[in-house]
Amino acid sequence: MGHGKVGKAPKGKVIGRVGELTHGQTKKFTLRRGKRDFEAMLVNYQGRHFAYVNRCPHVGINLDWVDNQFFTVDGRYLMCANHGAVFEPPTGECVWGPCVGASLQSLPLEVVDEKVLVRYPGGDEE
Ligand code: FES
Repeated sequence: MGHGKVGKAPKGKVIGRVGELTHGQTKKFTLRRGKRDFEAMLVNYQGRHFAYVNRCPHVGINLDWVDNQFFTVDGRYLMCANHGAVFEPPTGECVWGPCVGASLQSLPLEVVDEKVLVRYPGGDEE
């Protein structure tokens, strides 16, 4: 456990609110690791929240060709628009496509007072 700068402000970053997304919806957000920003997305799948770094394990580029479009049309899988890799929303595992067996990098979430927080190593904010 690290120490915040001052006081005991909760670690992590608020990236959404409970009820903001429904099944099949996603929301992008940015995190900072060291001096670099990177993009990630909050996912609602069957009412549960998951978060992943927006980087396909195939070539290492963003999954969404159309901004914030991550789900397949039927809402069953997450998909990379580049070469069609398909991922299980609850685990991030690639189940079809050029990176089968690899996984999206998941980010730990926590719900506190109806807020969805992402917590990740070295990424404390505020
Ligand atoms: S970059 Fe995602 S499937 Fe190729």
